[in-house]
Amino acid sequence: MMVWLWILVGFILLGGLLYWLLVTTEGVFLGRRMVVWLYDITAHKYDNIKEFDDDAERFFVIRPLRHHLRRTPNPLILDVATGTGRVPHYLLDEADFHGRIVGLDPARKMLDRAVGKLHSYRGRVMLVQQTAVPLPFADATFDAVTCLESLEFFPSDKAALQEMVRVLKPGGMLFVTRRQGSDARLFLNRYRSQSVFENYLTQLGLTGVNSQPWQFDYDQVFGIKAEIGRQKAGS
Ligand SMILES: C[S@@+](CC[C@H](N)C(=O)[O-])C[C@H]1O[C@@H](n2cnc3c(N)ncnc32)[C@H](O)[C@@H]1O
Repeated sequence: MMVWLWILVGFILLGGLLYWLLVTTEGVFLGRRMVVWLYDITAHKYDNIKEFDDDAERFFVIRPLRHHLRRTPNPLILDVATGTGRVPHYLLDEADFHGRIVGLDPARKMLDRAVGKLHSYRGRVMLVQQTAVPLPFADATFDAVTCLESLEFFPSDKAALQEMVRVLKPGGMLFVTRRQGSDARLFLNRYRSQSVFENYLTQLGLTGVNSQPWQFDYDQVFGIKAEIGRQKAGS
């Protein structure tokens, strides 16, 4: 009887460990390839799981981006970990938006979904299969860089943020998310408090860094890359 009890406890513990490794933290403690593979095999149901609300996406994602870009006639934007093309889709759907956007993601099947959604915007969107580090772009290329709901799944969020700031033009906006809420601390040493996260962005040369509550699991975090003169003065 005792033996069966121990076997049962063992199965429960193993199940809990697998759930934490594969579902809660989406493979991040098993390496980059595991994360990408998990996104590849679940890409077909990603949009159904997320249930994006058009009005909420326009208000909370597109509006702050467009507000920053209001004086840039044809902006060039980079969306890191674009997934199924959430940011490109809602941005290019705006009738009076005349810019271009590059969506980058290592998961082929996620990008295939993005291609399906974005085919009518050909010429204004480019999709690149690639991880966030290193970014295959020259310094100071983009007017804005976005990265939504993804940083906690990267091998190094710090290295990725450094790359994003590098490819951002001075005066350009970084718009990323920080994992928070009840599951955030299950990411153990990968969890970043608001102050730690904001301080890191400031150290990278961003000004006006600020966080806004967004979803149950995420805050939005914004910052502007300092202009050249201020970077030199600060360095
Ligand atoms: C939760 S999804 C977010 C997708 C999209 N940003 C959105 O908000 O719908 C996380 C994305 O991160 C991508 N990803 C995972 N590891 C990555 C890495 N090392 N570099 C860049 N993207 C990565 C995955 O393929 C997946 O598409």
